[in-house]
Amino acid sequence: MTAILEMRGVTKMYGRAAAIEDVNFSLIKGEVHAILGENGAGKSTLTKMMAGVVQPTSGTIQFDGKEIHLRTPAEAVRSGIAMVFQETSLVPSMTVAQNLFLGNEKFFNRIRGVNIAAQQFMQSLSFDVDPTLQVSALGAAKKQMVEIARAMLLEARVIVFDEPTATLTPEEKRHFFELVATLKDHGVSVIFISHALEEALQISDRITILRDGRRVVTGDTKDFDRDRIIQAMVGRELSQELYGTRKRHIRPAGERILSVENLRVGSVVKNNSFSVFKGQVTGVFGLVGSGRTETFKVVAGVIKRNYRNGGLVVLKGTPVRYRVPAPGVKGGIAYITEDRKVEGFFETMSIKANIFVGLLSKAGAGRFWLKTKEMDKLGETWVNSLQVKAVTMTAKVIELSGGNQQKVVIAKSLVQDPELIIFDEPTRGVDVGAIAEIHDIINRLADEGKAVVVISSYLPEVMQLSDRLLVTRQGKVVEEFSPLDATEEKLMYAAVH
Ligand SMILES: Nc1ncnc2c1ncn2[C@@H]1O[C@H](COP(=O)(O)OP(=O)(O)OP(=O)(O)O)[C@@H](O)[C@H]1O
Ligand SMILES: [Mg+2]
Repeated sequence: MTAILEMRGVTKMYGRAAAIEDVNFSLIKGEVHAILGENGAGKSTLTKMMAGVVQPTSGTIQFDGKEIHLRTPAEAVRSGIAMVFQETSLVPSMTVAQNLFLGNEKFFNRIRGVNIAAQQFMQSLSFDVDPTLQVSALGAAKKQMVEIARAMLLEARVIVFDEPTATLTPEEKRHFFELVATLKDHGVSVIFISHALEEALQISDRITILRDGRRVVTGDTKDFDRDRIIQAMVGRELSQELYGTRKRHIRPAGERILSVENLRVGSVVKNNSFSVFKGQVTGVFGLVGSGRTETFKVVAGVIKRNYRNGGLVVLKGTPVRYRVPAPGVKGGIAYITEDRKVEGFFETMSIKANIFVGLLSKAGAGRFWLKTKEMDKLGETWVNSLQVKAVTMTAKVIELSGGNQQKVVIAKSLVQDPELIIFDEPTRGVDVGAIAEIHDIINRLADEGKAVVVISSYLPEVMQLSDRLLVTRQGKVVEEFSPLDATEEKLMYAAVH
């Protein structure tokens, strides 16, 4: 059992706070090693140090027995360590083959040669990706395959995956797991970061758990179960089991706040019709690509409804057609995005400034006089109630961990006091403790009489939260269930067939 990578006494300070503190970590040749921990525990920071993205403040890193000092990700890749981020680093306007051989001019001059070489290489990894396609045309899973192929081509001996499965469909996930097995067969060591504990248990050989920047435990996966992991992550037993109990009481429908009639959007939403009522959580379940996100983005004005595309969106009895989100916000709609990186927030602004922007877009410019003090107080209230973990309130959102960024996105929308709140995959990338907090918020909003929509690909989540369940398939709502008699099988069947 020789270590390919060894970190000793590694610390990473940001200002006076330690994101990683005195951590020892070793990665064995050919193992799959899961790194788990709450949002902000330091998982990304630890692995970014291996990949040359950030530099340790102190401590040493050995690779293949020699001490290394990586200054850039390119340097890490040249040494044999690659990191596959959620947001890929591929060039979207180039083809798969060009991306693979980027920087390798020998191939790059001859298009045909590149394509053939790429084809052969992809085949040797059993990756089904057409090398002549533009990267921008690929789905998340295929993009990831290209990234991995590139890492393999450069003979990476360590590959870090930071939350690789969060945006994948079940089918793509299966593919990803096969891929990890292939990497292992090739003798590559894999680090797998995820909030999906079952997945970590399924694919890893060993598990390391971080808490508050420190390593709590490392051990063989066979010695762990879900409870032990959670216990180590949060340092206590979680009082309630997240998805343990079946929903027994459903809230009655209040006033109809939204009705969508025969909505059509491009080729993704086809004659979609349904209603949403106050005082309830309406769960929307469907596979990625079933038009759920597009439907609600049109409702909220996040995407424009083309005049060629028909249908009606009726909000509180009045037909509306928003082309930008601002009037939707004024009309009382909040759409809380699944894609926080792209549309959720202003990443170089502070937490409180982001929350404040949320307020402004509701109130309009008339409220610009809101004083710094008020802004501080507002920010603080929300940071406390959502338990956003940050070193200071002046920290920029980009400096927060992924899950904490998600909480800021939620705070920014809720500050607008909306009547209809649409959560699109609200707990993606969020740790178990924070999921419970977000679920509490969702329930509280419905109890207060708000209309809440929860779009989720995670069945236990929609079943646990919803008072009624809408299933979408191929561009429209095809069936409605009561959570009292729905089962995971019935919902899945409706979503797929
Ligand atoms: N560039 C930065 N500047 C300041 N603080 C930072 C920076 N990057 C990370 N941090 C802080 O370091 C801590 C660890 O963050 P990290 O991103 O490693 O957490 P994580 O375990 O990956 O969490 P998540 O599950 O939410 O992705 C957090 O408190 C975060 O706010
Ligand atoms: Mg992270």
